[in-house]
Amino acid sequence: MMFKGFGGPFRAMARARAGYLAPALSSAGAPSSARAPSSVETSSSVAVPSRAPATLLALMLLLAPAAQARDWKTIQQSGTITAATEGSFAPFNYYEGPKLTGFEVELAEALTQKIGVKLVWKPLPFDAQLAAIRGDRFDFAISSHGYTAERAKVVDFANPHYCTGGQLASLKGGPLTLANLRGKSVGVLLGSTYVEAVKKIPGVGEVKTYKSEPEVFSALLGHKVDAWVSDRLLIRSTLQKHPEAGIDIGEPLFTERVSMILHKDNPELLAQLNRGLAEVMKDGTYARLSQKYFQSDIACHP
Ligand code: ARG
Repeated sequence: MMFKGFGGPFRAMARARAGYLAPALSSAGAPSSARAPSSVETSSSVAVPSRAPATLLALMLLLAPAAQARDWKTIQQSGTITAATEGSFAPFNYYEGPKLTGFEVELAEALTQKIGVKLVWKPLPFDAQLAAIRGDRFDFAISSHGYTAERAKVVDFANPHYCTGGQLASLKGGPLTLANLRGKSVGVLLGSTYVEAVKKIPGVGEVKTYKSEPEVFSALLGHKVDAWVSDRLLIRSTLQKHPEAGIDIGEPLFTERVSMILHKDNPELLAQLNRGLAEVMKDGTYARLSQKYFQSDIACHP
């Protein structure tokens, strides 16, 4: 059963995949941009079957030596900064028809304006983003990445732009506590912090991964999984939009601090992104967007 409410973002996601997975695949085999020659050439010595699964290619990109990231001066001189986001993680980043929007999309547009560069979006599936940063396919990503020590080994994190947590949800009558997950199947987003969190719960029957949240949600509605673990704010907003879906919110699992991520060792760019974020937090833009999308303050308050 396909859930109708996700048709728009779903279709847009398919477009994003078609448009961006193809270049991601070809970058492993041929130099694609003048500014990222090193990793591209190194990996070109590896034979890449043209139909290799995206995860294999993502892994190869991750293992390839890091490319040379554009430094702040180069970005500033070009006048344009490129950013990846996913496009199906509402209300943080999603499509309204053909238009990319959401809390993170508007926030990034506002903060890059503060630092005086024009933002160009590069939509990319969530699980491909970490590897793509190392491959220097864009200058930063804003796609609800929670800080983890594991991720911090391969990318740098800006200051957090919101605080949140992973939460359990299921169809009426389904498991709503961690204890009740014994022997049950749980749907989670591929490459997300929810995967590890669920794997740690003792007794869980099966962890099923999906390429996007709308796919996990559809799986839940179609009884392909017993429970769903995702972002608590995303779940809340999904249920507000689809009260008829018959979903109950369960126990929280963990909390996380979410940040923009960028290529390692790019201190000036990191400082500029943090400066832009600080400025939109100071001038009321952040508060306005937080109210607009969440009717509450989602900033981290240490
Ligand atoms: N916060 C979770 C994580 O850090 C999920 C993020 C998913 N983001 C997205 N744009 N789909 O893994």
